[in-house]
This record gives sequence, C-alpha cells and structure tokens, in this order.
Amino acid sequence: MQTLQDRIRHTLEQKNAILLAHYYQRKEIQEIAHFLGDSLELARKAQQTKHDIIVFAGVKFMAETAKILNPDRKVLLPSLEAGCSLADSCPPDEFAKFKEQNPDHLVVSYVNTSSEIKAMSDYICTSSNAQKVIESIPNTRPIIFAPDKNLGHYLNKVTNRNMLLWDGVCTVHEAFSMEKMTNLKLANMDAKIIAHPESDPVVLDIADFIGSTSALLNYVINDSSEKYIIATEVGILNKMRLMAPNKKFIPAPINENNTCACSECAFMKTITLENLYTSIVEEKHEIIVEPELARKALIPLQNMINMN
Ligand code: 13P
Ligand code: SF4
Repeated sequence: MQTLQDRIRHTLEQKNAILLAHYYQRKEIQEIAHFLGDSLELARKAQQTKHDIIVFAGVKFMAETAKILNPDRKVLLPSLEAGCSLADSCPPDEFAKFKEQNPDHLVVSYVNTSSEIKAMSDYICTSSNAQKVIESIPNTRPIIFAPDKNLGHYLNKVTNRNMLLWDGVCTVHEAFSMEKMTNLKLANMDAKIIAHPESDPVVLDIADFIGSTSALLNYVINDSSEKYIIATEVGILNKMRLMAPNKKFIPAPINENNTCACSECAFMKTITLENLYTSIVEEKHEIIVEPELARKALIPLQNMINMN
C-alpha cells in the first residue's frame, strides 16, 4: 500500500515540483525533501531551481525569499500559519520610523524579516554569512542591525562594532533555561554545549561553539567529542543523528515544559504530511509578492547571494 510520503513523492514528480525543507521541519518531511538546508542554502537552491513549482516546507519569509529570487516559479507554502516570531517582532511601519530617525545608518537585516523590511535594507544576511556581510562594510559606517538583538549583540562582539540593534527576538531561541542547562552540563561534563547565535547572550557565553544551523551540523560531524548539548531548534537533531550515528545529542532544556521539554518552533511544525499533500495536489497557498516590493527586496538579497 502507498504511504502518504509515497503519494507526495509521486505528485511532486507529476507536477515537476521540488520540495525544499528547512532543518527545523518534522522528521517525516525532512525524509522526503529533495533538498534540506539552512536558510542561506535554501535561498540559493530556490534561486537555481528549474522546476515549475517550489513547495517550501519552511516559514513564510523563506517562501517569500524564494519567490523574490525566482519569480517565474510558482511557490507554495503548505500552511498559512507558518509565520515567524522574529519576523513579526519587526513591523514595517515602526521600522520605517526607526530608520528615519537614523538617516546616516546603513541597514543590515537578517533574512528572517518580511519583504517590506528587506525592501528597506541595504544588505540582507543569514546566520551563516552575517559576520562576513558586516565585515565587508567599512567600520566607519554606522549600521542598524535588525531584527534579532541576540544575533546583533553577538555580531557586535565578534566584529568589534557598535551596531544599533532593533529589539526583536526569536521566541524559540530565547526559551532556554540557564538553570536547567547548568544542571544538565553538570550531569554531562563530557558534553560540549553548542548554540545558534539567536540564543540569549548568557547561553552564548557558556557555549563551546556558536554557529548557524549548518555550521552546528558540520561542527558535530567533524569535531572529536562524542556528546553535545544542542541549544537550537530540536529538528536539527534528526540530521545530526543521521550524520553522526555514534554520537549522543541532548536538546538544551527550556523554561516552560512542552511535550518534548525542548525548543520546538511551533511555526515550522504547522507543516504536516497532510497539509503538504493537499498543498501540492491543489496548488494551494501560493506565495505572491507584489512586483514593486519584490524588485526593491531583490537588490539586497541578490547582493547577499553574490557575496558568498
Ligand atoms: P538558519 O537556518 O539560517 O540557521 O536560521 C535559523 C532560523 O531560525 C530559521 O528560522
Ligand atoms: Fe522564526 Fe525562530 Fe521559528 Fe526560526 S525558529 S522560524 S526565527 S520563530
């Protein structure tokens, strides 16, 4: 009997569609994706694809980025609930005022933003290339960094700048409990703590390694330790376990207790095999970006893609 995964694979093929998935997606979706990656890798893949349809198993800002970078493709987002707390923490009208108050500043925004914020930016970055993007700007130029204040704080430290930070956060990466993490470390002194730079500075201060989702994955594959406490969204543990099956990965604990007692992005998890299948069959939830907005947002996005 055909499983739902088989039916999705078959329908994707029939429609000449590519399934792109972020590492924070459910395991059963990661298993059938044509391409699995972090936000920068997904943006690059979306731009290069020749498929008629891009089905984006990720969140809205990622699907919009795909549409802006490859406007001739139909881009589908299986769930209308797949937003992002970080992108929502930077409303375009408030950001426009902030920008107006600091007219001499260049704007560097993290890709986790609406298309409107991208259109107001000089540069876009992801966590994979943020340091490189900032270091490419002469250090005499004042910079606004938006929207993630934790990533901004980390970047100020590593690039020795004093960028003006927008006060936004990702609720998923903010949720780690220092008390529980300290106890976990005490019970596992042989484990290294590795963290995504969207995490709170107190978590980053105790981390042995800080990096983007793909950098964390590469680190555990190449590093000689056998045990890690992972301070990022728990979905990446699937790929870590596949790539380094003899190592032990422990999700960093969070303040609240949810079903996994770990950090899950509820937005990413709104995509299921069921709504993914419906979306492909009915070509439902097409992402449309207004052409003038897309034209403006493409400029800093393309600068980022060209840089790396
Ligand atoms: P990266 O995929 O760039 O590491 O970003 C993490 C994230 O929070 C995506 O929403
Ligand atoms: Fe947004 Fe955070 Fe979820 Fe990433 S993990 S999509 S930044 S809410």
